[in-house]
Amino acid sequence: MAVLVTGGAGYIGSHMVLALHDRGEAVVVLDDLSTGLRDRLLPDVPFVLGDIGDDALLDRILTTHRIDAVIHFAARIVVPDSMTDPLGYYLNNTVKAHHLISACVRHGISRFIFSSTAAVYGETSGVALHETSEQKPISPYGTSKLMVEWMLRDTAAAHDFKALVLRYFNVAGADPQGRSGQSGRNATHLIKVAVETALGLRPHMSLFGTDYPTPDGTCIRDYIHVSDLVAAHLCGLDHLRHNPEAFSVYNCAYGRGASVLEVIDSVKRISGVDFTVQRAGRRPGDPASIIADGQALRRDLGWQPRHESLDEMVRHALMWERKHSNLQPFSASP
Ligand code: UFG
Repeated sequence: MAVLVTGGAGYIGSHMVLALHDRGEAVVVLDDLSTGLRDRLLPDVPFVLGDIGDDALLDRILTTHRIDAVIHFAARIVVPDSMTDPLGYYLNNTVKAHHLISACVRHGISRFIFSSTAAVYGETSGVALHETSEQKPISPYGTSKLMVEWMLRDTAAAHDFKALVLRYFNVAGADPQGRSGQSGRNATHLIKVAVETALGLRPHMSLFGTDYPTPDGTCIRDYIHVSDLVAAHLCGLDHLRHNPEAFSVYNCAYGRGASVLEVIDSVKRISGVDFTVQRAGRRPGDPASIIADGQALRRDLGWQPRHESLDEMVRHALMWERKHSNLQPFSASP
């Protein structure tokens, strides 16, 4: 039996494929390569180029391969983009997930893990977010993901179908063995941007907002190493295979925050480069602090994170960027 990973050529999906492969699971990847990269794919893992909304293709994959579970990453993920293209996000993230879930029900595939997001909580009051905290997304991105959570909940109640929803907080870092990492040249995520600046790929970076009600005035986020995140999915897969529970939701985070200044300090210290940081105004839509209550995942699924230090996330992100950026400033690239 194999695990179907949608979006398996993307940043998190590719780490998932490595982790499954490392523990001897058979894997099939479905990815349209809209943002994923072909060179992240393992040569001995079957790869299907295509769209998760293509019913005929899904029927073909689910008939050809003996799939025992689906881990669904394929989605659009940039919050500001979702504000200007809400219908594109609802199509890609919500409507196409409906096609994928329907195909699973049609083919009797009863285990499904879904990549959700802390964005489902919306404005947060600074207290640690529990899985039952109010969900009021403030972006189409967050709404597009929350609607899929509801579809999964209702499908699990009506059919022989079990779903696990994992809400990711701020994912960072790269495979400690250097086999995958975050690629692409239009990154907006803090650690990736800071690492690129340290390596001279950007002349400087901006620090968005220094007047937040936090100890150093900058935003606080709960960063999680991508390898620990995919380890949570492995725990989730075991849970679905050995537990009757039909639907569950878990936050994926360590339960402690780092400020933007702390992240920048870490990147400067580990890279040894004192790069230029320009203090800028607040970025619209940034809550002051997002921290999870991350206990349930450890308690219920036996998750044991191994890369909790911010410095380690930064070190691995730097290692990956050094290896793959060729150290050409972005302006010099075609
Ligand atoms: N930041 C900077 N400079 C930059 C980039 C980011 O100061 O160049 C700051 C941001 O303003 C924010 C913090 O760094 O205060 C973190 O920003 P990121 O863009 O790295 O991450 P977000 O917290 O905005 O986004 C995360 C996830 C999304 C999720 C969102 C909602 O990456 O997928 O949280 O909770 F939807």
